[in-house]
Amino acid sequence: MGKNDSLTARDLAVVWHPCTQMKDHEHLPMIPIRRGQGVWLEDFDGNRYIDAVSSWWVNLFGHANPHINAAISTQAAQLEHVILAGFTHEPVIRLSERLVERAPSPLSRCFYADSGSAAVEVALKMSFHYWLNQARPAKTRFICLSNSYHGETMGALSVGDVALYKETYKPLLLDVITVPGPDAFYAEPGETPKDVAKRQFSHMQQALEQHGEEVCAVIVEPLVQCAGGMRMYDPEYLRLLRQACDQYGVHLIADEIAVGFGRTGTFFACEQADVTPDFLCLSKGLTGGYLPLSVVLTHDQVYEAFYTEYERLQAFLHSHSYTGNALACSAALATLDLFEASPVLERNRMLADVMSEALAPLKDHPHVGDVRQTGMIAAVEMVKDKLAKTPYPWQERRGLKIYQHALANQALLRPLGHVSYLMPPYVIEPEQIQHLARVMAEGIDLATRD
Ligand SMILES: Cc1ncc(COP(=O)(O)O)c(C=O)c1O
Repeated sequence: MGKNDSLTARDLAVVWHPCTQMKDHEHLPMIPIRRGQGVWLEDFDGNRYIDAVSSWWVNLFGHANPHINAAISTQAAQLEHVILAGFTHEPVIRLSERLVERAPSPLSRCFYADSGSAAVEVALKMSFHYWLNQARPAKTRFICLSNSYHGETMGALSVGDVALYKETYKPLLLDVITVPGPDAFYAEPGETPKDVAKRQFSHMQQALEQHGEEVCAVIVEPLVQCAGGMRMYDPEYLRLLRQACDQYGVHLIADEIAVGFGRTGTFFACEQADVTPDFLCLSKGLTGGYLPLSVVLTHDQVYEAFYTEYERLQAFLHSHSYTGNALACSAALATLDLFEASPVLERNRMLADVMSEALAPLKDHPHVGDVRQTGMIAAVEMVKDKLAKTPYPWQERRGLKIYQHALANQALLRPLGHVSYLMPPYVIEPEQIQHLARVMAEGIDLATRD
């Protein structure tokens, strides 16, 4: 029995894995990872895999990055964690200063949590509570977009719209208003993504007109709906949305948990629309993929609505034990250092061009309905019928064939249903992207053969 097999047996006896039908592992291999280095993951039998999905979109500067390693280990020798109520520490202060400096004006305050979902809960509760403190108790609802994803906790799941994750729990969830989104995949012949954004905005306009008085906030994933199959839309939608939120007195929550930190080509995706949300949710790349940490940035107007005498009971009492963890903050600071140490976004533009060129031939594949890209996120959607863009029945799980083919060819590609994508760490080399594209193309051939 190899080391992989013996660890797999022990794992399957005691671990319950996320986002997994555990029975699948009767035929799918479990891969125990011994170490990571740069874009590479290595298992216990010595097989290597390029981490094309940045380990669920968190890793930016590679595994075992020396600068982040050193920062965490220096911090660990000093202070690993301290309660953040009544106490503070230098890493959380410096991180907040640097995030405020980076974020679009007038975002000026950082509230910490420990996962992306928790950040979304914070933003939803804070928005509701702001309106309550403003004597607007009728504002109790949220608007979200079709095909959105904001996490798995109850509030976050409520404002999501991916049936696979949401449907089961519907009886437990908030009553939200879901409006058809601006997904460019559904462009009519001759329409540009911008045209789609404008056309589809009428639904949002209508929802705000009808429900504005009872709505706290609209929540969106700027530019790319990642878990919804890397569906993309034009920045024009965010511009129109910012204006309409102002017009109807509704907050805008930008969930940049997946798309922040350069993934879309700019440091924050919202920059491409030149808009500032009322709440900016960040996580994943925040610590370079090292430690769980999230943050919600907001502006003084929100902060001041909570700032009053204790007896008025208007404080935001939300908390998590590990809020603002010092080790996680030191990893985040080291990550920001790496953005400043070299022209990361500029190099990413070169890498994005390589991705685009490497995936372009797939546009002609008889079962590829769309090849799309926003910055460092590139996706290829398999379809049954190319012209009508008819999807394959989800039960066929054709993406799994690509996943398995990739594992046998030094790649961790983990399709979302029938959408394969590249969202690699920024330290990837052009030849590695070309390899991934080749493996993906072979996988799509295999998966669409019958
Ligand atoms: C846009 C977005 N929001 C929220 C989340 C939830 O983050 P977490 O898994 O850290 O709770 C995710 C996770 O994929 C995400 O993509």
